[in-house]
Amino acid sequence: MDKKIEKAFNEHLNAEFYSSYLYLSMANYFAYHNLEGMAQWMRVQVEEERIHGMKFIDFINDRGGRVVLEQIDQPKTDWASPLDAFRDAYEHECHISKRINQLVDLAIKDNDHAANTFLQWFVSEQVEEEAAAQAIVGKLELVKDNSMGLLMIDQQLGTRTLAAPAAGAAE
Ligand code: FEO
Repeated sequence: MDKKIEKAFNEHLNAEFYSSYLYLSMANYFAYHNLEGMAQWMRVQVEEERIHGMKFIDFINDRGGRVVLEQIDQPKTDWASPLDAFRDAYEHECHISKRINQLVDLAIKDNDHAANTFLQWFVSEQVEEEAAAQAIVGKLELVKDNSMGLLMIDQQLGTRTLAAPAAGAAE
């Protein structure tokens, strides 16, 4: 595979594993504050991000490229409130969306149709990722400091489970 795309994909898979690490940090923040439902929601997100990273690894390997794992930065460990944490999650997803769009630009510029097709799954996924985080931010803004409202949201988020991958999918 083209060296520029190989390098950019390697950098991006690091960003996906960083996302996993960031959400694991948020999960532990919620667990510490007895918000087990939010912790569960984040733990599912941890797995989703790991799967995203693995998809990039599989693609690079399938194309005869070389995967190079680099150091993963330490994530933030504390937040002012659940709303603060979910706002960070939303902003992080917007950042990841920008990165994906830049990869698409690079694939198009390089005429790499396989990379472009591969990335389209992530373009759609990012719409969902941003929407999911934004919806929770919206609910948390509604309840503000109301403990009962917060506990209800926590309970609802605790029902999240990891969706089973489709048969034969690389997930
Ligand atoms: Fe892998 Fe949440 O983007």
